Amino acid sequence: MTITGSDEMSTHAGASANPEPATGAPHKLVTIRDVGHDYPTRDGHRTVLDKVSFDVNPGEFICIVGPSGVGKTTILRCIAGLQPSTRGEVKVNGRVLTGPSSDVGLVFQDYSRSLMPWMSVTDNVALPLRKRLTRVERERRVTAALREVGLDQHTESKPWQLSGGMQQRVAIARALAFGAPLLLMDEPFASVDAQTRAELEDLSLRVREDSGQAVILITHDIDESIYLADRIIVLGGSPASVIAELTVPLGSNRDQINTKSLPEFAELRKTVHTLIQEASRSMGQKGGSK
Ligand SMILES: Nc1ncnc2c1ncn2[C@@H]1O[C@H](COP(=O)(O)OP(=O)(O)O)[C@@H](O)[C@H]1O
Ligand SMILES: [Mg+2]
Repeated sequence: MTITGSDEMSTHAGASANPEPATGAPHKLVTIRDVGHDYPTRDGHRTVLDKVSFDVNPGEFICIVGPSGVGKTTILRCIAGLQPSTRGEVKVNGRVLTGPSSDVGLVFQDYSRSLMPWMSVTDNVALPLRKRLTRVERERRVTAALREVGLDQHTESKPWQLSGGMQQRVAIARALAFGAPLLLMDEPFASVDAQTRAELEDLSLRVREDSGQAVILITHDIDESIYLADRIIVLGGSPASVIAELTVPLGSNRDQINTKSLPEFAELRKTVHTLIQEASRSMGQKGGSK
């Protein structure tokens, strides 16, 4: 596992068990079944998630949306193997997750806390690959990842010499070089300006296209979820579960102006907005996702 943009730094660890027996069923990269999560409180516990179930196909782009505080980060941490779910099961590549897995890469919102300020861009990207690959293979992967994110002219810069958007590109390159079949991103573009955000969205789509990685991305931005996703998972309720799964019929060639002008886009925006508004109301909140 590589964790990018979070205060929890670890390299990878193979911690999976119980490979699934071969069957004739189509291969699912991730299966999430009846996942529940409780946080301890002073007088017992609080159930945040209950019976969350959905699947992710190889190469699929999933966006998770839902009101603020509903449990989006919690489910992502369970899928990452960073915190064991209280109930239910997460399988990645047919194996039950029992901890961080080399099948999963992570990009979090706060890039400034994930990149090592004293290390060059190249060394930051190579960090989770240390001790894992030969030097030649490591260099090949790092060079390719930095080229993919357009940072091949900045390999020797330190993160603090780069803009916020460029630093998040370093984080994406790190996850890309790690080469896990599943990439998890928690509000990865929430800290950058609108123009940079649009560029990073397009970069994410291109990376998914080129690498074939599946992505689960959390966002509070409804337009972003529709623009990026093949499928949108809406979380709602308290405790939260999946209240809707929406297929996004916008094809694979998306662009910021034309795709967002399509009637299907506007229709989905209305649907997702209504779902989140209802979910926010039922949580007794004024706010929620935009
Ligand atoms: N470590 C924790 N201990 C106790 N409660 C937590 C913890 N992390 C999150 N929560 C609570 O669980 C709920 C869901 O949090 P989170 O998954 O971060 O929501 P989201 O990402 O959708 O905003 C919130 O009410 C939050 O306050
Ligand atoms: Mg969150």
